[in-house]
Amino acid sequence: MKDRAIGVFDSGVGGLTVLKEIEKLLPNENIIYFGDTARVPYGNKSKSTIIKFSTENILFLLKEKVKMVVVACNTSSSLALGYLKDIFKIPIIGVIEAGVNKALTVSLNRRVGVIGTKSTIDSKSYQNLIKSKDKKTVVFGKSCPLFVPLVEEGLLKGALVNKTISLYLSRFIKDKVDTVILGCTHYPLLKNPISDYLKNVNIIDSAKEVAIHTKGVLAENDLLNCKNIRGEKVFYVSDETKNFANLAKLFLKRSIKTIKL
Ligand code: DGL
Repeated sequence: MKDRAIGVFDSGVGGLTVLKEIEKLLPNENIIYFGDTARVPYGNKSKSTIIKFSTENILFLLKEKVKMVVVACNTSSSLALGYLKDIFKIPIIGVIEAGVNKALTVSLNRRVGVIGTKSTIDSKSYQNLIKSKDKKTVVFGKSCPLFVPLVEEGLLKGALVNKTISLYLSRFIKDKVDTVILGCTHYPLLKNPISDYLKNVNIIDSAKEVAIHTKGVLAENDLLNCKNIRGEKVFYVSDETKNFANLAKLFLKRSIKTIKL
């Protein structure tokens, strides 16, 4: 069981930001990544569709005999995690709680902004979890639908990026937030320009925290791989691999040799 892989899925390529951190923290773990490139984006879809897609993604990973699943997609984590945890027996974690915990640790004025896809923000997953952990924290949610296509076009800085950031995030300056959670797989790639715009605001990229959470869950379940060799990484997508390979380079800062359809 310990030698089995950790399964990670996302709507597409963005979850590689999470895989990158898991790989860094747990280099000897085998990881199977599934990017649902045939059905991306999830960020504007309904709850029932996200639940259906996420369930199918886990069924696929289970065929590959994974020992746990990390739902790297914020939209799936927001809308489907509760359902998935109820119907599957293996440990399943999402990405919302890690970001929330970190934000609550660093925010001094208890005014926190959350950005994500439309479905994530509308679901109020972040807002409700923050409120349930600390009633006094005021949460400001803002969906930023143009950020994903910008990143996927490789536009990570420059005039268009800065204009889009100010369009979405100027209200956070008025709202006096001191912490902003990047509640979408793609947003860590825009961390620098966001940070330059929102001076002196803590920018929370939950990928690192998710990796720490993954390690904790494996340890709790006595599932940590004890072998002292570098783990194998296998990448699956549900549609056409060429664009995935190009984008993967952007997200992982290295190329992926084999991508399976
Ligand atoms: N992976 C999605 C998320 O983190 C962003 C891309 C999409 O809309 O599918 O919410």
